[in-house]
Amino acid sequence: MSPLSISKTKSFKNKPSARDLGFGKYFSDHMFQVNYSEGRSWHSPRITPYEPLLIEPGASVLHYGQALFEGMKSFRQTDGTTILFRPEFNAKRLQSGAERLCMQVPPTELMLEGIRTLVKTDQDWIPREKGTSLYIRPTLIGTESFLGVRPSKEYLFYVICCPVGSYYATGADPIKIWVEDKYVRASLGGLGATKAGANYAASLKAALEAKKRGYAQVLWLDVTHQYIEEVGTMNVFFVFENEIVTPALNGSILSGGVRDCVITLLKHYGLKITERELSMQEVIETHAGGKLKEIFGTGTAAVISPVGELASEKFDLKINSGVRGPIAARLYQDISDIQYGDKPDLFKWTEKIFRAT
Ligand code: COI
Repeated sequence: MSPLSISKTKSFKNKPSARDLGFGKYFSDHMFQVNYSEGRSWHSPRITPYEPLLIEPGASVLHYGQALFEGMKSFRQTDGTTILFRPEFNAKRLQSGAERLCMQVPPTELMLEGIRTLVKTDQDWIPREKGTSLYIRPTLIGTESFLGVRPSKEYLFYVICCPVGSYYATGADPIKIWVEDKYVRASLGGLGATKAGANYAASLKAALEAKKRGYAQVLWLDVTHQYIEEVGTMNVFFVFENEIVTPALNGSILSGGVRDCVITLLKHYGLKITERELSMQEVIETHAGGKLKEIFGTGTAAVISPVGELASEKFDLKINSGVRGPIAARLYQDISDIQYGDKPDLFKWTEKIFRAT
């Protein structure tokens, strides 16, 4: 394969101020691209200016939805070191998603070399303020122009970056959640365990309807409308008096990187964390008994997102009086301290890329 080529932009963009970042609004100056075609395997890895893609109108992604993405972050640490947070986790998850969607996927080392080089090229885009980072969006799409229904024989893997602050405008304040009892996000045997674009398309209508009612997102239940799966685009944790519960990865739930960090940290704190089936009925009863202490979502974008209210036509549960609880606060602090290099990386979650000179 040809070596990674770098072609720099001739018109650098203005960078937004940290205050204005939000999530996903601004894109850095460059991107990484690499192509696959049958017979040539992965070829032409390149850093290019951030630019429109040239794909044919017949490309399979545009018709049959062969599209997978990842979400990861790079941080500029307090001592000037730039790190990637758990890149191997994302590479593995993309591989397993690609297997489910019958897509070709670049070898891990090629993917990571592209990401490291892109972050280095766009290092001035990594914001410095606490609570900000460079969000990295690896994306894999089928590009063969062919309308028969079968896996594409050509793929594009590309990576773009956004400097980001908080995912929710409310920052770390608890969000209000509607318990979804009409739509489902995913079902057993489907795509729910993958980061397929299709899962997010399936989620939009419920989220819009919840917003109209004044809720930030929905709590997703399984197809029987009994068991809890995810919250919004995140995994979800329930802090009961003597146990913390998160739905077990049953095949329709995404295996989140921050979910995994949280399970590891809770064990490290000596708390009882259980991955199991959890029904909405059990949550209602535990709340009625005064033993539901906290609920929070976990994801790369928002990190830890406390839930202050859980409502449906039939109930309205206030959680921890609508304020962020101590476990959510401690987890957020510990994960960010590791990300910014302010606490030892006990679990080897960070990969140093370079140190600013
Ligand atoms: C995350 O929580 O990191 C997500 O996957 C949300 C993303 C789709 C914006």
